[in-house]
Amino acid sequence: MSYETLLTEKRGRVGLITLNRPKAFNALNSVLIGELAKALETFESDHDIGALVLTGGTQAFAAGADIKEMAQKSYIDCYREDFITRGWERTAQCRKPIVAAVAGYALGGGCEIAMMCDFIIAADNALFGQPELTVGTLPGAGGTQRLARAVGKSLAMDLCLTGRQITAEEALRAGLVSRVVPVGSLIAESLKAAEKIAALSLPIAMMVKESINRAFEVNLSEGIRFERRLFHASFGTRDQKEGMDAFTTKRSPHWTHS
Ligand code: CAA
Repeated sequence: MSYETLLTEKRGRVGLITLNRPKAFNALNSVLIGELAKALETFESDHDIGALVLTGGTQAFAAGADIKEMAQKSYIDCYREDFITRGWERTAQCRKPIVAAVAGYALGGGCEIAMMCDFIIAADNALFGQPELTVGTLPGAGGTQRLARAVGKSLAMDLCLTGRQITAEEALRAGLVSRVVPVGSLIAESLKAAEKIAALSLPIAMMVKESINRAFEVNLSEGIRFERRLFHASFGTRDQKEGMDAFTTKRSPHWTHS
């Protein structure tokens, strides 16, 4: 499938999606968001894909929602089209594991889309920020909620209220990203991480993702109850039998994703 604002390719069992509006620093306009939703759906329904990588360019992952496109919207325009919800939320709804590979600017909606992924691998030139207040609005794609959960109240307030950007190293210290790698090896390292996931059992990886995401929705005892039910459910899969038999008989497991 070919897109106007994205590049997609399959690398073995990994689906790679590259945001591709370089002249606008990958500003997230309605075409790009619609295409991103479509690309995610295509990889989600492809049984040969076990994990995804979402990336941008070396200068920008994405510099936010497209300011020029949204500048003249009225309240009723936003309300009627449910601006941001439709299309944007598709990344958060992705059931397969998805790694954000971030180089350059990840600002506003760019930072928010990265936070919708399961973890962020940052290039050493990455810059994260929520500068919406500086253009007269506030984070609208989950930034105030996901950033506060990722880095705590103080840094979330600092970033959202001042609009300042933090470096990859600061983001690592704050727990926003899981690793920092040289910009030249960002794609290779991110693909390597995704390949590692995709080589394991897909249904069990999906259960792990679902269970960790539950931690952000419910209290501890409900979260543990949810995890326990999925843990029990894993014993209904062929892959659990295969994984434990392979360990016991000292051989490599052959996952059937079933
Ligand atoms: N929307 C639309 N166009 C954008 C854009 C955005 N978010 N970010 C960059 N661009 C465009 C610029 O308009 C410019 O286009 P032209 O060449 O046609 O003028 C091009 O990308 C390059 O940008 P700059 O000339 O500004 O480059 P720079 O190196 O001086 O600065 C930057 C780079 C710091 C990323 C700066 O462009 C910037 O601050 N961008 C806006 C960041 C921002 O405020 N993001 C939040 C948007 S609101 C939002 O995201 C809401 C939400 O929560 C969903």
